[in-house]
Amino acid sequence: MKPSPNLGPIGRAAAFAPSNIALTKYWGKRNSRINLPLSSSISVTLSELGSFTIVEPQADLRQDVMLVDDKPLDDAGLVKVRRVLDEIRAMSGSSLYAGLRSVNTVAAAQGMASSASAFAALATAASAAYGLRLDSAALSRLARTGSGSASRSIDGGYVLWQRGEKDDGSDSFATQRFAADHWPMRILIAHASGGRKSVSSTLGMAQSKTDSLLFRSWIERCDHDVVALENAIENKDFSTFADLVEGNALAMHGTMLAGQPALLYWRPVTLAVIAAVRELRKDGAECCFTIDAGASVVILCSPQDARPVSEVLSEIDGIEQVIQTRIGPGARLVEAPGGLPHA
Ligand code: DP6
Repeated sequence: MKPSPNLGPIGRAAAFAPSNIALTKYWGKRNSRINLPLSSSISVTLSELGSFTIVEPQADLRQDVMLVDDKPLDDAGLVKVRRVLDEIRAMSGSSLYAGLRSVNTVAAAQGMASSASAFAALATAASAAYGLRLDSAALSRLARTGSGSASRSIDGGYVLWQRGEKDDGSDSFATQRFAADHWPMRILIAHASGGRKSVSSTLGMAQSKTDSLLFRSWIERCDHDVVALENAIENKDFSTFADLVEGNALAMHGTMLAGQPALLYWRPVTLAVIAAVRELRKDGAECCFTIDAGASVVILCSPQDARPVSEVLSEIDGIEQVIQTRIGPGARLVEAPGGLPHA
C-alpha cells in the first residue's frame, strides 16, 4: 500500500473502544488470515464496557511490545497485534516498532470476549499514533484483521458488518445502521460462574466449518436473519426481534453441537437463564437472550423491564453477577495519560 498523502505527526495516541454483542452471529470464515466472514452480522455496541489502549512508536524498540492488564501479551496475541500494526506501518511509511499498553474495563474472565474491543481500540489508537487519518470503514477493516468481531466496535448503535465479496477484504467492514437512540434497549450480561471457555471462537468456528453437518444451512439462515433483523429493528418490532435474535443464537449453538467432536459451551445455568427469560417474556416483559461462545447469557430488554428482569436473573444459582449496560457510541481517541507504554 502507498503511504497516505494525509499524514499527521507520529507520536503517542490512546483510544477507548467498547465491546459489542452480536444479534446475528459471525460463526464461519471464508478467509481466516484476514478474518473474512461467510455471512454478514448485526450487533449492538455497548457503552462503558471495553478496552483502553495506548500506542507509542519508538525509535529504540527492536520489536513491538505490549502489556494487557499489566501482563505481557502472549505470542498468539502478539501475532494478531503485529498483523494490524504492520498494515498501519505500510500505510504510514514508518518502520518504527511500538510500545503498547491495554486495559480492559470488561475482563475476559467476566465471561465476555475482550478481543472485539481490544482490536478496535488498537486500530483506532495505532492509526493515530502513526499519523494516519482514517475513516470508520478503514478502521473497521483494520480492526477486523485482528479479530472479526472487532470490525463492529468502531461504530456505535446498531451496526451491520457486511460480509463482502472481494478476496482482499476491501468490502468487508461494519457501519452503523441505526443510532443507539433509535431504539434504546438495555443489555444485561448474566455472567455464569466457573472457568473461562475451553475452545476459542477462532478455533470453534473453524471446527464447525469443517466438521458440522449443519454448517451450510447455518450460513443460509444467517443471510436470511440479517435482512429480517434489520427490518425488525427499523420497525421496533420486539416480538420479531426476539424470535430472530434467540433463533440465530440457538442455531449457532446447534451447528456447534452437530460437529464431530461436538462443541458445547453451555452449562446448566445457561439453560436456567434461557428458561427464566422465556418465562418473563410470557408474563409480558420485553426481553430476549443471546449467547456467544461461552456459558454466560446476554439479555436485551426494554428500559422499563431491565430492573425486574435483572433481579430475577441475579437469583439464579450459578449466576455470579448481572451487569447492566446500554447501547452506546463506538471507538474514539482519548487523551493519552503520562507514563511510557513500555512493556
Ligand atoms: C460467538 O471475533 O472472537 O462472539 O475473528 O477469530 O477473532 P476471530 O473471532 P471472534 O468471534 C466472535 C464469535 C461470536 C459471535 C460474534 O461476535 O459475532
